Amino acid sequence: MRLPLKRISAVVRHGNLAARTATTTSRLPQATPIQAQQHQRSASRLASALHKVVDAMTAPLEKTPLNPAGTTEEKLIFAPPEDQYRKGALDREHLDPDPVIQFHKWFKEAQASTDQAEALTLSTAHLPSGRVSSRIVYMKELTHLGFVVYSNFATSQKAEDLRTNPHASLSFWWKELERQVRVEGVCERISKEESQAYFDTRGRGSRIGAWASKQSQVIESREVLEGWGKEKIEVPEYWGGLRIRPLRVEFWQGRESRLHDRFEYVRDTVDGEWRINRLSP
Ligand SMILES: Cc1cc2nc3c(=O)[nH]c(=O)nc-3n(C[C@H](O)[C@H](O)[C@H](O)COP(=O)(O)O)c2cc1C
Repeated sequence: MRLPLKRISAVVRHGNLAARTATTTSRLPQATPIQAQQHQRSASRLASALHKVVDAMTAPLEKTPLNPAGTTEEKLIFAPPEDQYRKGALDREHLDPDPVIQFHKWFKEAQASTDQAEALTLSTAHLPSGRVSSRIVYMKELTHLGFVVYSNFATSQKAEDLRTNPHASLSFWWKELERQVRVEGVCERISKEESQAYFDTRGRGSRIGAWASKQSQVIESREVLEGWGKEKIEVPEYWGGLRIRPLRVEFWQGRESRLHDRFEYVRDTVDGEWRINRLSP
């Protein structure tokens, strides 16, 4: 049986105490009454230390979410093999002063070498609970104002979070280039006209789907879902674009031995001046 580290160290601690007690006991000369008493105390300390050794070895393990029965501390995954990153380097003199232009340059390189370069993790946080939630979405547009994603803003968790807290973060991972981009910013809904323009580029099925996903609303009949003619389908109120106006954008290029290149662009307001800092990996 393999003992978990916590228990091995308990055994060693109690074992050391037992050994010290036994040494003391064995050095006692012929016993006077007082010495006999001390001898007895030492012996009982030794016995109780040995009990602790046995208890430590046989005590049930702590119950944890990974180990609900408290029967094993085996990790389900432990430290997958380390990759070395050697595909590129990033230095200040090659950075564009505008992070949107810099992002655009990296994005085009990612599109040329990566499947779904536009996929990103969008994280939002609910207030006052502070609970954070993340999901994959697609970046559909990039303008000088920011990054635009499209979604349903009625019933989704992100909609719920954004109603209480407009801050969000995005992260892109382009494995083939060993690059990560992180964006933190403030969200705003884009205009209905802009959303309509994107909506019109979607297939008919997806446009109807956006209406159909108004989940749990009472509808008169199936015709409501299927009765869309050739006429223009209006973008639903609750569906549309969300622009993340960046306050911080970080470009991360993997390097060997975890000595990655990291540069952040930061500003205090969404129309402020950018400052660029190199960050420790
Ligand atoms: C590859 C991929 C792309 C996705 N793209 C979008 C998207 O562009 N917009 C969107 O609302 N959901 C998208 N989803 C679904 C979201 O991950 C998520 O399930 C949905 O937005 C509801 O999340 P929420 O309730 O946490 O807000 C995508 C999922 C995957 C796996």
